Amino acid sequence: MVMPKKSKVAENILMNVTIRKGTSDDLAGCTDVRADWLGRFQIFHAEGECTCPAGLPVPWIETIDQLRSHLATADRGHALIAGAPGKQIAAYLLYQINEDRGEVVIRGHQPKWRDGAFAAAGAVLDHLLDHLGQLPARRVSVALHGFAWETGMLRMLYGARGFHGNLRFEMLSRSFNLDAGRPKVSVRMLEVSDPEAFYDAEVTVGRFGSAEESRDDCEMSRKMWLVAPARDWVIACVHGQVVGTVRVAVTRNQIGVLDGLHVREDSRGKGIGRALLCKALHTLKDRTNVIWLDVDDDNEPAISLYRAAGFRIQHYSSTMQFTSA
Ligand SMILES: CC(C)(COP(=O)(O)OP(=O)(O)OC[C@H]1O[C@@H](n2cnc3c(N)ncnc32)[C@H](O)[C@@H]1OP(=O)(O)O)[C@@H](O)C(=O)NCCC(=O)NCCS
Repeated sequence: MVMPKKSKVAENILMNVTIRKGTSDDLAGCTDVRADWLGRFQIFHAEGECTCPAGLPVPWIETIDQLRSHLATADRGHALIAGAPGKQIAAYLLYQINEDRGEVVIRGHQPKWRDGAFAAAGAVLDHLLDHLGQLPARRVSVALHGFAWETGMLRMLYGARGFHGNLRFEMLSRSFNLDAGRPKVSVRMLEVSDPEAFYDAEVTVGRFGSAEESRDDCEMSRKMWLVAPARDWVIACVHGQVVGTVRVAVTRNQIGVLDGLHVREDSRGKGIGRALLCKALHTLKDRTNVIWLDVDDDNEPAISLYRAAGFRIQHYSSTMQFTSA
C-alpha cells in the first residue's frame, strides 16, 4: 500500500482552524482542496482498482458546478468551511437539507483523507452536528465512497460520531443524543512519559494478568524501550484505560512491520481494531511503502480487517503473511 506524503501546509493551517459558512468567495479555495485531493488520488491510485468496496466507481467527487451551487446556497445546498481566517481552506463539507424527509444529506466532504487535514474534516462535521438543532431535520445521512483503506478512515471519522451502517452512513439525530454517553475512544501513540499506559498495554495484549504484575515485570522492558524504542506503540483508550494496542516498526531494509494488534475482549466489535490499524498505517506512511504482518490462517476477524485495509496474502506457512504493497 502506498501512502500519501505528509503535508506540512495542512498541519500549519490546523493550528487555529475555524468553521464558517461557505460563500461564493470560497470557490477558488475549495477548488484547490478538491484538486489537491484528486491529485493525490491520481498519484496513489494510478493503476489497478477503480471501484470501491460497494462496487461504485471511484473517485466519486462533486463536480465544480455542484461545489459552486452549494457555496451559493442554491437548491438548498449549503457548505461549511474549515480554515484559519485569511489562510488556505483546510476542509469543506457540502450538505443539502431535505425538509420533506427531515434529513440533512452530506453531499461532499473533502479532503477524504490527508495527513493533518483529517482533524479539519472532523471539525467541520462536528460543527454541522452541533448545529443540527437549528435545522429542520432529524436525520443525517452520508454516502461517501473510496477504496477500502479510505473508507476505513471515513468509517472512523463518522463512526466516532455515532454514524452507523455500511458505506452509506446514517444517523438519527435522536440516536446521536442517546449515543452521547457512549465512551469515546481515543487512539494515540504511547508516550514515554506515560508508564501506567505501558503497563496497561502489556496487560491488554495478554502478557500479564494485572497492572501490578505488569508493573513489576515490565519495568526492565520499559526502560529498554525508553533507551531505544524499537517499536512504536499505538494505544486505544476509553476513559483513560487502554483497551487495545498495536505495535509498529520499520526494519533496517525499510520494511514496515505491524504486530500485537489486540483489542480487549469486552471492547471488540466497536471499531477499535480498525481505528488502531488506521493509526498504525498513518504512523508508517512516511517511513515505508510496504508493510508486513503475520496472522494465523484461522483468525477470521483479523484477516477480514487486514483485507479491508488493502492487505494481500503474500505467503502461507503455519501463519499467513500479509503485505500492503
Ligand atoms: C482482530 C481484532 C483486533 C479486531 O478488533 P475489533 O475492535 O473487534 O474490530 P473492529 O470492531 O474494528 O472491526 C473491524 C473489522 O474487523 C473484522 N472483524 C471484527 N470482528 C470480526 C468477527 N468476529 N468476524 C469477522 N470479522 C470481524 C471486520 O472486517 C470488521 O469490519 P466490519 O465491522 O465492517 O465488518 C480483535 O478481534 C482481537 O483483538 N483479536 C485477538 C487478537 C488478534 O487475533 N489479533 C490479530 C493478530 S494478527
